[in-house]
Formats: sequence, C-alpha cells, structure tokens
Amino acid sequence: MISTSKESKPICLFDSGIGGLTVLKKLISKFPNENYIYLADLARVPFGDKTKEEIKIIVDEIIQWLVQFEPKTVIMACNTSSATFSSQLEDLSSKFGVPVYGIIESCTREIGNSNHKKVSIWATQLTANSNCYKNLIQKTNSNITVEEIGCPKLVPMIEGLSFTLEERNKVINEYLNHTSKDSNTLVMGCTHYPLISEDLKKLTDIEIIDPADSLVRELEKNLVKNNSSNPAKISLYTTAQKEKLERFSKLYLCQEADTKLTVLNRIKAIS
Ligand code: DGL
Repeated sequence: MISTSKESKPICLFDSGIGGLTVLKKLISKFPNENYIYLADLARVPFGDKTKEEIKIIVDEIIQWLVQFEPKTVIMACNTSSATFSSQLEDLSSKFGVPVYGIIESCTREIGNSNHKKVSIWATQLTANSNCYKNLIQKTNSNITVEEIGCPKLVPMIEGLSFTLEERNKVINEYLNHTSKDSNTLVMGCTHYPLISEDLKKLTDIEIIDPADSLVRELEKNLVKNNSSNPAKISLYTTAQKEKLERFSKLYLCQEADTKLTVLNRIKAIS
C-alpha cells in the first residue's frame, strides 16, 4: 500500500499478540480518522520470556516489514520491545527513516514529574529484568521508589482467553501479594495487562496507570494528523492464529477490521 499524502499515511503498531490492541483502541478513540496497520506476532508470543538478542532480531524484522506501508510513525505497542530498545529508539528511527515510539518513555516522564512516592510496575520478565521503568523514572526524579515485578503467568493467561474468573483471580492475587502494600500506584508495564484491569480493580484499590494514555498524550502533540473525515481504516496482520485475532479484535475493538495472515519470510519462529 502506498499512501499519497503524509497526513494519510498509516500509523503502524506491533506486539507479540492481542496485547497491543489495548494501545490501538486508545489511539483509535483519540485519533479516529487515522489509518492503522497492526501486526501481531502470534507465531512467537510470548516475547517476555525471550532473550534481548532474540527480541532485537524480531523487532528489526517486524519494522522492516512494516515500512512497506510507508507509515507516518511506528509504535512499539509492546513494553518488552520498548524496554529492549529504550536507549536506541533514535537509531531505529534513522535506520528505518520513520519516527519509532516506544511505550515506556512518555509514561516514565509523566511519573517522574508527578508527586508519586512509590510506584510498582507489573511487566514481563524481560521488561522487569531490564530495569527500564526504574531507570527512566529515577532519571527524572531520584526520590521516587520503583519496584518492578515480573509477572510471567499473565500473558499466557490473557492470550489463553479461556481462564475462568476464579483462575484469573488466583493468578492476579499471586502478583498482588508480591506488590508492596505501601505502593499506591501500579503501572501496567505490559500492553496485555489492561485486558485484565477490570478483574484487578475488583481485587485492589491501587491506582492503575496504563502507559498507553501517556503515549496518546505525547502523540497528540507530535503527530501530523490526518485531516480526512473518513473513519479509521484498520488492517490487522498476524503471523499465526488468524481466527483468534479476528474474533478477539471484533469483540474488543467493536470495529470492522480487515484481518490477514502474513508469513514474514525472514522471521522464523524461535522456540
Ligand atoms: N504485550 C507485550 C508487552 O507489552 C508482550 C508480552 C509478551 O509477549 O510476553 O510486553
């Protein structure tokens, strides 16, 4: 697809699976006239238990694939990728000739400039181990205490789509028990987690932050907007499990989206 004007070029996003749809939903709601291309790498979900080196190869290949759509911007709707590339976003942008946004920077800046005292981050193991949230928040404000908690059971549970409420609560409570009681803010440091925020809110009073909200605020300032009055055109691609993405996105986005299965030649499933 080749867009004619800069404004109408698509916003491209990617994630390992259905998690990034939580970011897409917020973008569509704020920028309803943009065109969107979303890639779910369901052949290789989860990303959180891979190595940094594997994520680097995967992300490089995905962005290389996405640039065929001549995006106005590429968004990593994935904390694990964002944490891995945190200090290299500018390099990625120049390499691919398109602004590349991670999902962590805008959120950590906002938290760093807030009056929070202690913040807990739930994230994939790779994101938690990277200390990316802690480093970036404390770079802005070293007085904020940050704890990063790896929650490896959450993505498989959310992607599974078949867990009962009781089973979900058991897993969520396990991570709530690891979360400091004096922490008054919990950051959803994985784009899958907002999909269980309703369950979570019934189990705790802690304030929940979704980094996608900060990213939307940043894009509101920086994005070259599409002036067309046409509603968003949304194309979803996945490297596997097309029916799942189709079914879930219909339910979650409540919007028509064209869903296609794509085989990314250079991307081989890493077992
Ligand atoms: N949703 C992604 C994230 O924000 C990836 C989760 C995974 O595949 O482990 O980290």
